[in-house]
Amino acid sequence: EEKYTSIFRPGYVEIDGVTLPRRYKELKNDIDDFDVFEDDIWICSFPKTGTTWTQEMIWMIVNNLDFKGGEENLGHRSPFLEVTSLFDYRKFMENNPDFKPPPFIEDSLGYIKTKKGAICLKTHLPWNLLPKQIQSGVKQPKIIYVSRNPKDTCISYYHHSKLIEGYNGNFDEFCELFLGGKLCFAPYWDHVLQFWKKRDDPNILFITYEDMKKDLPSVIKTVSAFLEKNLTEEQVHLLTAHLSFESMKNNKAVNYEMIQELNKKYNLTNGEGTFMRSGIVGDHKAHMSESMIKKFDLWTKENTKNTQLNY
Ligand code: A3P
Repeated sequence: EEKYTSIFRPGYVEIDGVTLPRRYKELKNDIDDFDVFEDDIWICSFPKTGTTWTQEMIWMIVNNLDFKGGEENLGHRSPFLEVTSLFDYRKFMENNPDFKPPPFIEDSLGYIKTKKGAICLKTHLPWNLLPKQIQSGVKQPKIIYVSRNPKDTCISYYHHSKLIEGYNGNFDEFCELFLGGKLCFAPYWDHVLQFWKKRDDPNILFITYEDMKKDLPSVIKTVSAFLEKNLTEEQVHLLTAHLSFESMKNNKAVNYEMIQELNKKYNLTNGEGTFMRSGIVGDHKAHMSESMIKKFDLWTKENTKNTQLNY
């Protein structure tokens, strides 16, 4: 059941074919049996594919563009289901007793239960680890899956791992971990394709980072129609501006600035870089070797044959 990775995150385990933090085991039963409300909206994704962007878009649509309310931290407004398993703050607190994790991190499942009304939930879990009520179809909340091409996802994940998890291997090693399914929530293709196959289910909408970059107003319209919250042209225009990379980069409620502050304060990583990093399509070209690009392309071709998913 358990397979340990040697280069990165020795504490990671494989559960039902998915690489996860060891602590996930403590949450697994509660997530399996999680009581799902059909009014909630599930935002599902592989890490670094535009999750935060999608969360902010959806929260704003659901809350009628409440820009004032949107000043509250996104982690409170749109809680992250399994985040408690990702940060082992207990170990960290042994050396930093003054550190107090916020409730949405300390006990994410408990925090979610305290929220009133429809919640915009974030999860990186693949379909096969979602609550049983969702997998069996007994409950059918609206699910929006966002995907991004694997090469840009990989470079983004690399910077994220350096910024947040103190990854200190090189980029080529990281690419191999990505391809080998050794990163948290991997394998990548199992993740994407499970949702891709369900894209025509009435309660599931599959969107892409690339489409959001190409034509955000049109994605906003598709998503708001799916959520049965039609917006006026003026609202689409306002929301498009609010969701621009520059605007989100400068928005403290969504830019994860506090992570850098914590990293610096507690000396967790070198604290370099920002969460809102480059925000473009094709960024891998500046970082990936020709041979690695070839490897990714072959791997992509192999994994997407017999699908119309065009990456
Ligand atoms: P880069 O590292 O390529 O810049 P996630 O939220 O799933 O962790 O994804 C993070 C990625 O989405 C980062 O990619 C980040 O810059 C990008 N991103 C976040 N908000 C964005 C926006 N408004 N426009 C474009 N990209 C955005």
